[in-house]
Amino acid sequence: MTHLVVVPPEVPREWLARLDQPEAGCEVIVGIDAVPTPRLPEVVGLLSLLTMPVDLELLVRLPALRVVSNMAVGYDNVVIPACAARGVALGNTPGVLTDATADLTMALLLAAARRIDEAALDAREGRWHTWTPDGWLGVELRGTTLGVVGLGKIGYAVAERARGFGMQICYVGRSDHDHPDAAKLGAQRLSFTELLARADIVTLHVPLTDETQGMIDAAALEQMKPEAILINTSRGAIVDQDALLAALTTGRLRGAALDVTSPEPLPPAHPLFAAPGCLILPHIGSATHTTRRRMAELACLNLLAGVRGEPLPHPVALTQP
Ligand code: GLV
Repeated sequence: MTHLVVVPPEVPREWLARLDQPEAGCEVIVGIDAVPTPRLPEVVGLLSLLTMPVDLELLVRLPALRVVSNMAVGYDNVVIPACAARGVALGNTPGVLTDATADLTMALLLAAARRIDEAALDAREGRWHTWTPDGWLGVELRGTTLGVVGLGKIGYAVAERARGFGMQICYVGRSDHDHPDAAKLGAQRLSFTELLARADIVTLHVPLTDETQGMIDAAALEQMKPEAILINTSRGAIVDQDALLAALTTGRLRGAALDVTSPEPLPPAHPLFAAPGCLILPHIGSATHTTRRRMAELACLNLLAGVRGEPLPHPVALTQP
């Protein structure tokens, strides 16, 4: 029996080769809009991207759907109760993107601390007149404190790297218990408020949920140290961007480096692009050749398991624990 599955046009087909192997037993259609209307009720598997809203409206169009395989670790684009209500399994791609995202977080952290973006722009645009003792001064990392909001896989990998730069680590975790490996990093668990007051650099590694949406708001920014730096490689909506803009404009914060924004893409005319000390990247945390292929591979494995009615290698729990 052939399984009809839909994949997004953005993923290079070669990365999804597993679906085309005869033993996969799949017929692959590229793009939901390419599925002829009479065949929508045959679709059993959907490979989705974080840019694709998977909501009840979509699920109603696909009544036979068994699995949504999101090619991302985050899955805030998927309406979980809609999947639960329709008995559709959901998979994601954790683990394989941890190192790439942690590397990018460190790149942002270093860039913000050493004003790389601004200095490179000045060099390129003719403002590099001579070597000046007090030109483009930044901060060095040794001895500073990194506040990790969310010590999951990625947060931990960032903390490990930051230890290598001589930073002290504090963190907010999901539970009331210390992270089992926190001691290896000498990392101290604090409350959110304590972390904001203690950290020189705050880095966000929590999923976007109703609880985390806007958690870095004006009040949180106010609690941060004067001249602290904010790094966000998780989801844009965790930060109140108007409040961040105000904090950067008044010099309350030294800088912010964001790989994620709300919306994405952020329109080039958005004032955050011109805010002092603000570096914005186009959501490239996991963008390495190796990692993106691994994510696609894992997404294929979730998809194939789901269409066969087998347990997914990386399922997302559809009910709250
Ligand atoms: C990227 O942001 C992901 O969630 O995989």
